[in-house]
Amino acid sequence: MREGKKAGVKEAPEKEKILVIDDEPSIRKYLQTLLEVDGFEVSTVVSGSEALEFIGDGARPDFVILDVLMPEMDGLETLRRLMAADPGLNVIMLSCSNEVSTVVKAIRLGAHDYLTKPFEKPELDAALLKCRQKKELKAENQALREYCDQLTEDLSFLAASPQMLKIRQQILQIAPVDVPVFISGESGVGKEVVARMIHLRSSRRQQAFVKVNCAALPGELLESELFGYEPGAFTGAVRAKPGKFELANKGTIFLDEIAEMSPHLQAKLLHVLQDNQFARLGARGAIQVDVRVLAATNVHVQEAMRSGRFREDLYYRLSVLSLHVPPLRERSDEIPMLFRHFLLKYSEKFQKTVSEPAPHVIEAALRYPWPGNLRELENFVKRYVILEDNDGSLRELLEMTETQQRMAPSEEPVAPREQGLKALVRGLKDEAEMGAIADALEKTNWCRKDAAKILGISYKALLYKMRQFNLDTGRSTRTAGPGVPVIKSS
Ligand SMILES: Nc1ncnc2c1ncn2[C@@H]1O[C@H](COP(=O)(O)OP(=O)(O)OP(=O)(O)O)[C@@H](O)[C@H]1O
Ligand SMILES: [Mg+2]
Repeated sequence: MREGKKAGVKEAPEKEKILVIDDEPSIRKYLQTLLEVDGFEVSTVVSGSEALEFIGDGARPDFVILDVLMPEMDGLETLRRLMAADPGLNVIMLSCSNEVSTVVKAIRLGAHDYLTKPFEKPELDAALLKCRQKKELKAENQALREYCDQLTEDLSFLAASPQMLKIRQQILQIAPVDVPVFISGESGVGKEVVARMIHLRSSRRQQAFVKVNCAALPGELLESELFGYEPGAFTGAVRAKPGKFELANKGTIFLDEIAEMSPHLQAKLLHVLQDNQFARLGARGAIQVDVRVLAATNVHVQEAMRSGRFREDLYYRLSVLSLHVPPLRERSDEIPMLFRHFLLKYSEKFQKTVSEPAPHVIEAALRYPWPGNLRELENFVKRYVILEDNDGSLRELLEMTETQQRMAPSEEPVAPREQGLKALVRGLKDEAEMGAIADALEKTNWCRKDAAKILGISYKALLYKMRQFNLDTGRSTRTAGPGVPVIKSS
């Protein structure tokens, strides 16, 4: 039972509220009497400025009756300002003249109807009825728009497997609760999609969703990106710049690849999360913000904490609630649906009519483990849409599957001698590549951002290679595929 409501007692319906704005006392009195008899709750004010104050104080009348001719601020100016303060107001104008230009101006400014003084009671009733109908139509439109937004958002988050249906359910539960969420999962599984859906389903949906890729910038730059700076904070800081935390005020900040953040910045972020405030670089005073933090990583967090790369206290602050998005290979039943989804997306984007892929392409797609997850599938479908080559796509899938199988850890390695020359060369190339990657990782204490820099490849390319060579869980001892070296922990 809700507080303040007695079981079994039917509450009287709430009275509709009307605000009357007119400088003439007789008209105010006349309208108040008529409307109160009809069951309205009537408030009256004598000028535009009083009306603006009334609305500014948070009053939300169901209807407003507004006189056009008033001293100081006239009715049209009052209407303009009232609509700026609350575009949802339902206003009926009231005037001695029905000059067409004034009527047109009022309607353009958002008035629903226009009554000419003196008016009879039935005219007032008709104007109110029309206004009520418009108001109801507006509410229906709004509800329909929200429903459509939700539908679009749901359609961009596809879920069919039991794991993903559960995640969708969890998102719906988690979204309205204003606490940090930690999203983990391999690269390309849909962590950002999950983060956006949490934001869109939260009460912050009308505010900003600000994404920051913590792996994309070196430490100092990331710090100024997150917290902003004042002029002179460092060489080149000519003008003040707000940070992403400020831009996300009242909304959500999505800290992607959080485990790549430098230890110094991890400590600073922890303080920000504790105090809800921070200072721009070079500033004296602190800024208070109201931001919901969502963080994501594709690294094995427990491993990163064990090796000291990621602060445990920060993790526990960020993971009040956590979600793990499973890799595509663990929900391969979703592949046909996702294939079709991306097919539609890119057919529309490239304005091509593309036929469904041949069944054997889908069958091959179901057998391939998709180490790059949905993003890899998406890129594959994009190529399919551009080239429309079933045979080529099938060949590509079979080759990728073969490479994967060759790379997968095996208990019984096949001696290079037993393979063809081509395979032998490929094995040696992979061996050299994997050795270089392992070296770079060891040298950088498994900091993948720095390792990518040493290797001269992008961070994403390194992640892909690590997964391909089964190096993705970091320092643990792993057995690798045939003809490739064993990586030992340091
Ligand atoms: N549930 C889903 N339904 C439909 N499309 C999805 C879904 N999840 C992911 N995608 C699509 O797959 C692609 C990769 O998703 P996203 O960028 O969210 O992955 P990610 O885990 O953040 O990747 P990374 O770790 O590389 O940043 C995007 O194009 C996204 O639209
Ligand atoms: Mg992402």
